[in-house]
Amino acid sequence: MFDRIGTQEAGKAVLDALCDDARSILTADPGPEGQEALRRRLLPVLTDRDFLEAYGGPGTAPGSHRLYCDPDLGFTVFIYVGRAGRGESPPHDHGDDWAIYGQSALYTDMRDFEIVSGSRYDDTAIVQETGSYRLNPGDAHLYKVGDIHSIDPVVDCRYVRIAGSPADHFTPVGPIGEEMRAIWGVSFTERPKGGPA
Ligand SMILES: [Fe+2]
Repeated sequence: MFDRIGTQEAGKAVLDALCDDARSILTADPGPEGQEALRRRLLPVLTDRDFLEAYGGPGTAPGSHRLYCDPDLGFTVFIYVGRAGRGESPPHDHGDDWAIYGQSALYTDMRDFEIVSGSRYDDTAIVQETGSYRLNPGDAHLYKVGDIHSIDPVVDCRYVRIAGSPADHFTPVGPIGEEMRAIWGVSFTERPKGGPA
């Protein structure tokens, strides 16, 4: 039990240090270079045993858990536990936010897309895949504002996601070619209305 308490405290110290550094990094440069610096800062956290045990240990419920939201800058840190039956997300961006995904346990398969015709703002966008890769423990990827991607986390995996704001936008963009895909029971053409902020 004392070990457990010690692990919780050690894990919290790792999270606190990450968030302190994120504040410094994003205050100095909130743009893509600062976001990339934060991605690099996240890397050692992903494989920190105390952090993973404290926030994603056995018994952590599947789904997304918010660990921190900065009251001034708005960046928000989540840990996600892979949920059975979830499957691959639709191609999406994060609205007017950036996002960093970093893998802590098992893996998540990612795909990148670009729009080949139409507009992302009037439901006419058609996208095609431009690349695919797997995030393994210790890997992290920055998705800048507007970068279109999909994620396919394996059951019981753990990944950390840092969102640029507490709004935590998720904006499906698609379909892929002429194909209609469904995810989470919802056609991803049912994207939120409205243009960029
Ligand atoms: Fe995303």
